[in-house]
Amino acid sequence: MPEDGRPVPSGGPAPPSLQVAEVLGHRRAGVYHTLTLAASEVARTAQPGQFIGLLTGPERAYLLRRPFSIHRVDWRGAGSGSLEVVFDVVGPGTRALSWLRPHDTVDLVGPLGHAFTLPEQPTSCLLIGGGYGSAPLFFLAERLLARGCRIDFIVGASTEERLFKAMEAKRLARSAVITTDDGSAGRRGIVTDPMPEVIEAARTELVYACGPMAMLAAVSQVATTAKVACQVAVEELMACGTGICYSCVVPMAAPEGGIRMARSCVEGPVLDGAQVAWAELGLSAGLSGGPGYPASLAEEAM
Ligand code: FES
Repeated sequence: MPEDGRPVPSGGPAPPSLQVAEVLGHRRAGVYHTLTLAASEVARTAQPGQFIGLLTGPERAYLLRRPFSIHRVDWRGAGSGSLEVVFDVVGPGTRALSWLRPHDTVDLVGPLGHAFTLPEQPTSCLLIGGGYGSAPLFFLAERLLARGCRIDFIVGASTEERLFKAMEAKRLARSAVITTDDGSAGRRGIVTDPMPEVIEAARTELVYACGPMAMLAAVSQVATTAKVACQVAVEELMACGTGICYSCVVPMAAPEGGIRMARSCVEGPVLDGAQVAWAELGLSAGLSGGPGYPASLAEEAM
């Protein structure tokens, strides 16, 4: 059995399952929403960094599924399991999700995508999240702690109200630095500001990051400079979520040189930050350390 008591997956990632999931709970987490869904099969097999696709809207009117990172899973044996996703109301799809109440149902497929790779040995890991992009890092933190890893957190947002579970990050981690663009909580600045000092103090061996693409670009740049491996969970527009439509491609360094396009829904969402061709994405605002990181295109389409 793995650290969290679920059966050991064999033969690679589990195939996604399609189901109509009952809403078990809908809570507010600051300005964000948390949905708890009865999804035993997904809860049994999901790994940190994977996501689910939800059909939303009245009568599931929006034909394209919206991707949501898995925040937590709770698996209690066959037929009894749930998962949580976190979202912000940023468009019609997420507005429709915000109307869901317990006992409503939602059409779900998952788990999808490529998960974070976990170290085999106890390792010093730095987890960096921006806004509610931090959500999958808490699932990851549980798994890393169960493996005896040291974890440190940097959690950032534009303002205090847009931080996600900063107090829980402090509770879980050996150290946690909070940043806000406007200084309303923690340090004024962006998540990359404290990275060098945290990496040095914690002797960080591996960085994991989730959040807007410009933030991920900047985090990857700092990690590469510090010669620390960096896994990032990218946020890209996704239409099919299963590798068919090529709406989610991310430019990556090709082994033979040049650039190749990777479908982030199947090769990602977790990618090697050092291999993403960030300059091709035109994210200069985030790379320059400007005033915070813009919302991603994917978020605006939700
Ligand atoms: Fe269709 Fe990735 S979302 S290929």
